Amino acid sequence: MDILFVCTGNTCRSPMAEALLKRVLAERGIQGIKVSSAGLAADADSPASEGTMSVLQEGEDLSAHRARQVDETMLAEASLVLTMTASHKETLQTRFPSFAAKVFTLGEYAWGQGGDIADPYGGGREEYLQAREQIEAAVIKIAAALAAQGKGVDTMKIALASDHGGLQLKEELKGVIESLGHEYVDFGCNCTDSVDYPDFAAVAAKAVAKGDCQLGIIVCGTGLGMAIAANKVKGIRAVSCHDCYSAAMARAHNNANILTLGQRVTGSGLAAMIARTFLTTAFEGGRHQRRIEKISALEEDFGR
Ligand code: RB5
Repeated sequence: MDILFVCTGNTCRSPMAEALLKRVLAERGIQGIKVSSAGLAADADSPASEGTMSVLQEGEDLSAHRARQVDETMLAEASLVLTMTASHKETLQTRFPSFAAKVFTLGEYAWGQGGDIADPYGGGREEYLQAREQIEAAVIKIAAALAAQGKGVDTMKIALASDHGGLQLKEELKGVIESLGHEYVDFGCNCTDSVDYPDFAAVAAKAVAKGDCQLGIIVCGTGLGMAIAANKVKGIRAVSCHDCYSAAMARAHNNANILTLGQRVTGSGLAAMIARTFLTTAFEGGRHQRRIEKISALEEDFGR
């Protein structure tokens, strides 16, 4: 499948959409979809605008982007053409009527109704951030639809739990899980009354150990008590992470199945990135599998 994004100059919105969709597809492990962009009035070979470059995040790279004028070959190759505005769509359909049926605005394709992505060109950072926000929401929706059509990885069920010290962060992490197209099961707690973290670690860890949930994220004040408690459940490899590198390695090398976070330690922005990294990194297996088996053997030795 080939998706072509089209805007006016191919330096702001359409390359931004290209970078965002590529990142979302990569995060979801969706392969085999070619994503590109072009413009209706492109100044060929111009790089992505500074404004667009300035709002890109990790995993979104437009350094090699050069503007291209949309042409018949690109349209013929594309299975889906998504424009930023209704006027782009109309222009494309008028200029290339034989491809009209595969041209939609991004808004109508994602949400089933219009809504132009305003041109941030010449505007300040606010305008670019607004365009980014709109485009990102739309491409997440599109990636979820592609996944539902069997083009993506399986949806995971994530066990979520916290004590009173992690309640707020647990609630915030629901959005991260949903944005990746996964589901969560909330094992509480559900209010700020003081509770005992081992009770909540236990129920989430048991759900992961039994296979009812594929991974878990549990939050307390520090992330430490939750990790200690969850690791008492056979089959659980719970890790407390404060950075994305550790979260990635915990999955890739240690096949960790529960992430613990500390609401009083890690700010919500970083915590969301850590959770996202944890949920989107796959276990590498190979030599690491042998080491995981040795950890399991230790569990047997000590009869936990
Ligand atoms: C509760 O005050 C706090 O001890 C708990 O949230 C957690 O940090 C335990 O490790």
